[in-house]
Amino acid sequence: MAGVRLEKVGKAYGETRVLSGLDLDVADGEFLVLVGPSGCGKSTALRLIAGLDEPTEGTISIGGRVVNGVPPRDRDIAMVFQSYALYPHMTVRKNLSFGLEMRKVPPEEADARLRDAAEFLGLAPYLDRTPRQLSGGQRQRVALGRALVRRPALFLFDEPLSNLDAALRVQMRAELARLQERYATTSIYVTHDQVEAMTLGHRIAILKDGVLQQVGPPLDVYRNPENLFVAGFLGTPTINLLQARVAPGGTVLSGDGFALPIPPALRSTTAGKDGLSVVVGIRPEHLHEEPGAGRAPLDVRVAMVEPLGHEVIVHGRVGAPPGAAVAARVAPAHPPEPGALLALHADLDALQLFDASTGRRLAAP
Ligand SMILES: Nc1ncnc2c1ncn2[C@@H]1O[C@H](COP(=O)(O)OP(=O)(O)OP(=O)(O)O)[C@@H](O)[C@H]1O
Ligand SMILES: [Mg+2]
Repeated sequence: MAGVRLEKVGKAYGETRVLSGLDLDVADGEFLVLVGPSGCGKSTALRLIAGLDEPTEGTISIGGRVVNGVPPRDRDIAMVFQSYALYPHMTVRKNLSFGLEMRKVPPEEADARLRDAAEFLGLAPYLDRTPRQLSGGQRQRVALGRALVRRPALFLFDEPLSNLDAALRVQMRAELARLQERYATTSIYVTHDQVEAMTLGHRIAILKDGVLQQVGPPLDVYRNPENLFVAGFLGTPTINLLQARVAPGGTVLSGDGFALPIPPALRSTTAGKDGLSVVVGIRPEHLHEEPGAGRAPLDVRVAMVEPLGHEVIVHGRVGAPPGAAVAARVAPAHPPEPGALLALHADLDALQLFDASTGRRLAAP
């Protein structure tokens, strides 16, 4: 087992800068999810850690050893890709054991590991089949098994579930969580799926345009995003973002068609900032039909209603058109009609405030 440390890691292909100043510490046994939109540099970061590519600058250490220049096979890592990358002409058994033979693992030891992995992943009935004779989910399990039998110091996953349908993804997600629980191998997991990130990661690291935006436990990042990008990246429906100004006196946020009191906990961040342009973030689950202590009214003209069974997502606009677009998660009992004016109530404690000019979360001076 081993921790991983990236210090000021950068990567450029000619003139194209793909990663910049990446600092990241992954603890021994930790499951870190690297998440971000397509093209932000996730796979590149993983390839650098794997040694499939070398950084342009910076240092990468695995288990306290600097591995810059060390070939992949000497880094004690196992990678799992979206494409499975199985040997098509070999049986499942051979796919699992091949890497061990190459590494001269004694046959009894190899056999014990193979049986353990096959049992853990439910592959025992398929050991004599070739990948062609397996479903996508079974193939991805073989790919996982092949990484598992290696007993590496570090697992690297690059979107391993994105070829699977929705139901299988849920199942495999649970499988990966179980794998982490049982083997506790340090893992770095790349995905652009925020649900995978939120559910699998001990911590998540959010990347945008090759620059790390924030690292932390999923719920911390969800509740306290450091900038508008992170706020908007996590959560479905996405966080509501309302333009507003700090009204004179520093206790009210006033925007088009609404005014919200600034909750006491945030007042130190707006003190002395009369007139400052801010963006108010309110998650859809923090808008309610019922008034209550610590809530403030926000009237919304309903445009569209999405009944999902256990809840209803209401889409509308604040105040009169063209007010800001807003989504709210409400109880399914009496969904509002499109066109209706819906009196919603925002949880003030859950408000997030960002400086409109920088996009950064407002911090107390
Ligand atoms: N060999 C290369 N030469 C030039 N540019 C490259 C090369 N490899 C990757 N890039 C560029 O680097 C950027 C990051 O690519 P990367 O594959 O790391 O993105 P990603 O975050 O994994 O995206 P996705 O979610 O689509 O897989 C992209 O803009 C890509 O075009
Ligand atoms: Mg990628």
